[in-house]
Amino acid sequence: MAELLRKDDKRTHYCGTLSAAEVGQRVCVMGWAQKQRDLGALIFIDLRDRTGIVQLAFDDATDRDIFARAFTVRAEFVLCAKGVVRRRGEGAVNPNLPTGEVEIAVDEFRVLSAAQTPPFEIVENSNVNAELRLKHRYLDLRRPDMQRNIIARSRISKVARDYYAEQGFIDIETPNLCKPTPEGARDYLVPSRVHPGKFYALPQSPQLYKQLLMVSGFDRYFQIARCFRDEDLRADRQPEFTQIDTEMSFVTEDDVMKMHEGFLKRLFHEYMGQDLTYDFPRMPYAEAMDRFGSDKPDIRFGFELTNLSEDVRNCGFKVFAGAVENGGSVRGINVKGGAKFSRKEIDSLVEFVKSYKAKGLAWLKWAETGEISSSYAKFLTAEENDAIKKTMEAEPGDLILIVADKNKVVFDSLGALRCECAKRMGILDPMDFKFLWVTEFPLLEYSEEDERFYAMHHPFTAPMDEDLQYLDSDPGRVRAKAYDIVLNGTELGGGSIRIHDSQIQAKMFEVLGLGETEAQEKFGYLLDAFKYGVPPHGGLAFGFDRLVTLLLGLEDIRDVIAFPKVQTAAELMTKSPSDPDPKALTELGIAVVAQQE
Ligand code: AMO
Ligand code: AMP
Repeated sequence: MAELLRKDDKRTHYCGTLSAAEVGQRVCVMGWAQKQRDLGALIFIDLRDRTGIVQLAFDDATDRDIFARAFTVRAEFVLCAKGVVRRRGEGAVNPNLPTGEVEIAVDEFRVLSAAQTPPFEIVENSNVNAELRLKHRYLDLRRPDMQRNIIARSRISKVARDYYAEQGFIDIETPNLCKPTPEGARDYLVPSRVHPGKFYALPQSPQLYKQLLMVSGFDRYFQIARCFRDEDLRADRQPEFTQIDTEMSFVTEDDVMKMHEGFLKRLFHEYMGQDLTYDFPRMPYAEAMDRFGSDKPDIRFGFELTNLSEDVRNCGFKVFAGAVENGGSVRGINVKGGAKFSRKEIDSLVEFVKSYKAKGLAWLKWAETGEISSSYAKFLTAEENDAIKKTMEAEPGDLILIVADKNKVVFDSLGALRCECAKRMGILDPMDFKFLWVTEFPLLEYSEEDERFYAMHHPFTAPMDEDLQYLDSDPGRVRAKAYDIVLNGTELGGGSIRIHDSQIQAKMFEVLGLGETEAQEKFGYLLDAFKYGVPPHGGLAFGFDRLVTLLLGLEDIRDVIAFPKVQTAAELMTKSPSDPDPKALTELGIAVVAQQE
């Protein structure tokens, strides 16, 4: 039977805050029983709340009725206990517990709620299977590490609110039921009952609204905004996620980047106790691809890409020469110290690159002893082999890994491979934070499959002034006033200066194959707004979940989201998505056509 909380049951302290300083004080604590130890004449209960654990003590001086009730307590019972803080007896001090010097001699006691045995123990770092954790997320969130993550998230959002408010940003909410805002993913659609057959989209981002707020003259906008994207999930992607979203008027790229760099520095100072006193490095997209095979390079380590095309252009090994002849390239990475990889490990690297569409991986292992083994050396002359070693600056202890293919495949596979090797070698410290701005992104991306251009960022991103001339003649060549902030190989945020000239915007829609009527239908309101005086503007959005994940040294954004979804976009606890009420469907004028297996 649950007992009720009485009017004078007022908590005086959180469990984890008690120490020798409170000895002699009468306190009231509330929380969950971590465990109960029954030693016959003595009972101890570890009481837990979000701050930690304190020991409740019941002995022969305790009221018999209270003692009897303490006897019934099991793990996860919810308790209210009052009593005097005292020093623990000699030999009973627990140096591993912040409250380990003291205990509470309980003289008033209520069992506020009993508890069934939970499906897993509520302890730190438990390796319970993810599905079980998510099914009982309310219990999973009771674990101290999850509590720390979620509380950290709240503190980080407070730093963001403080910083941007101090910089004059105005917090404005934008609608969640809206017209599609394209960010390159599929929309989640919401049917309208009042307008049968019509749908709202959930925003992929507040992009268009924040631009309109600049037209309205708010000058600096800020929002911790929920975004929705129906896309394939990964460890760093959720179908609904949170952005720290901003927009500024009368600014250039440099102004926007400096402003947000200021936030990250402030966050590191306040939250991590680290002063980042340097300017974050900036690297054009083309250089990032060339050196790292990625537009979000992890610059904590080397293993940079080296172009070997000139060394092998005329060689007799068709895999290499053919790739160059077909307009692709042959590039390699030198994994310093990689010669300690076994043959089996190298074989698994060969498999690894195949998931990036590479047809193979050529390798050369130069052991510390000087012995060389290689998958490709036998196909090349001694001179060609020497040339590769020289270009790769290889020496004993190194592992050379080479991919020959179309440039996209070469970059994708080697870009991922260098990170994979670093990971396997255990040289990545998650608490070594290396920020990088990647700039000058291509404005457009050509899809071979659809035979058309897509906006690389979004269709409102401005072209670089010096490339505007190619928008008609050679759109693929145009670079954008776009920038991403990258941290340790993760794209933490991105943004751009926007097109604020309706003629350029119309041209951009044209390049994207959006006819005038269609552009008007989809984004007419933006084009109209631009007719009434629009300031030059630009902004950036951070992936808030990713930011928190990286700051805490974690890998999966689900660990910083209270109620995340799994790979299939389902939520296991509430079992959503679920079948709708047939009446609701009728009202919406929607019939579900059963899909054939
Ligand atoms: P973008 O699409 O680059 O830009 O998104 C900004 C940042 O949001 C994070 N992010 C995600 N996080 C978790 N799950 C997802 N599915 C997900 N998708 C994106 C990333 C990303 O860098 N409106 C523009 C911003 C602007 O131009 O101002 C935008 O949304 O960390
Ligand atoms: P093969 O002649 O196909 O047996 O290939 C000889 C070596 O070249 C093997 O080590 C293959 O893994 C490697 N290889 C094959 N295709 C490629 C490629 N596109 N890029 C790099 N190495 C490759």
